[in-house]
Amino acid sequence: MRVLAVESSCDETALAVYDGRQGRLLAHRVHSQTDVHAAYGGVVPELAARDHMRRLPILARETMADAGIGFDALDGVAYTAGPGLAGALMTGAAFAKGVAAAWGLPALAVNHLEGHILAPLLGAEPPSFPFLALLVSGGHSQIIEARAVGDYRLLGESIDDAIGEAFDKSAKLMGLGYPGGAALSRLAEQGDPAAIPFTRPMVNRPGLELSFSGLKTAVANAIAAGNAHHDVAASFERTVVETLAIKLERALDQIGLDRLVVAGGVAANGPLRRRLATLMAERGGRVFFPEIALCTDNAAMIALAGSLRLMAGERDTSVGFSVRPRWPLDGLKRPGQAA
Ligand code: KG4
Ligand code: ZN
Repeated sequence: MRVLAVESSCDETALAVYDGRQGRLLAHRVHSQTDVHAAYGGVVPELAARDHMRRLPILARETMADAGIGFDALDGVAYTAGPGLAGALMTGAAFAKGVAAAWGLPALAVNHLEGHILAPLLGAEPPSFPFLALLVSGGHSQIIEARAVGDYRLLGESIDDAIGEAFDKSAKLMGLGYPGGAALSRLAEQGDPAAIPFTRPMVNRPGLELSFSGLKTAVANAIAAGNAHHDVAASFERTVVETLAIKLERALDQIGLDRLVVAGGVAANGPLRRRLATLMAERGGRVFFPEIALCTDNAAMIALAGSLRLMAGERDTSVGFSVRPRWPLDGLKRPGQAA
């Protein structure tokens, strides 16, 4: 059961081929558009769509060559249908539907957030359901109860900026370029995480909501006050990590789970990985991360999610397609039960 997957929801063009029956990733490639958007300090939607148009056919050829199979050996095509930038999503959806039509294959619309959460299933020791999921990316910060594939309940999310966004905006204030999350984390290694006593947002309020725009303002003030960038970076990172640890512990207590999945671009963050590994070890539970390359946007996770749905008999052989720039996780269905 071989699936070709296409991811184009934001500023990465990605293709992958996954064999669902063997549980084997045959190939995956990611082309990052960082260079296209860096000068603007953020993603420009039209430029993202244009670059996807240029890259999709090239990457598809290269990824199929890596996998060592022809299009005639595929059983389906999966594509990210949302959430994301409308124009960017349309380029990938149109390409995927085109390949599907040309080779007489079923197409499968995949939710990008589900892809992120299921990415650890591509690892050597996949988590079993149910588990708690922390999804932390440039656009989302959510705490989710994952009961089964396709059965998700949102427990809490950021009421303002996403965590990745807070990393990126703070990095920009330090002149680290865009997207600066990983660069900020490298700078933080040289700083003192106790240098600036940032308030941990929302921890004194009950519930599982998150908020990061106030922290971003506090970072701006700390820089304006003349603190060294590496100390601000380290203190910011420590504050984010501790805030998440507190909220996750609360969520784990609330729903009585001992397995935690951490996914999305910010799941690549070293201090966050270490802190949550310690937290789960102390609780006698386990934490699961995607491998670093599969934390940020990629098509391997879309291929996996698509193959689970394809194997459950889901098909879409319609001529038209639609993308869903907003597509909440808790509106999904279990594989085989989609309308
Ligand atoms: O999942 P992703 O590739 O794209 C979205 O779906 O948003 O996540 C990208 C985000 C960016 O905000 C980036 O700065 C952040 O992940 N990021 C990191 C690290 N690596 C990537 N943030 C903190 N530490 C890192 N090591
Ligand atoms: Zn993403």
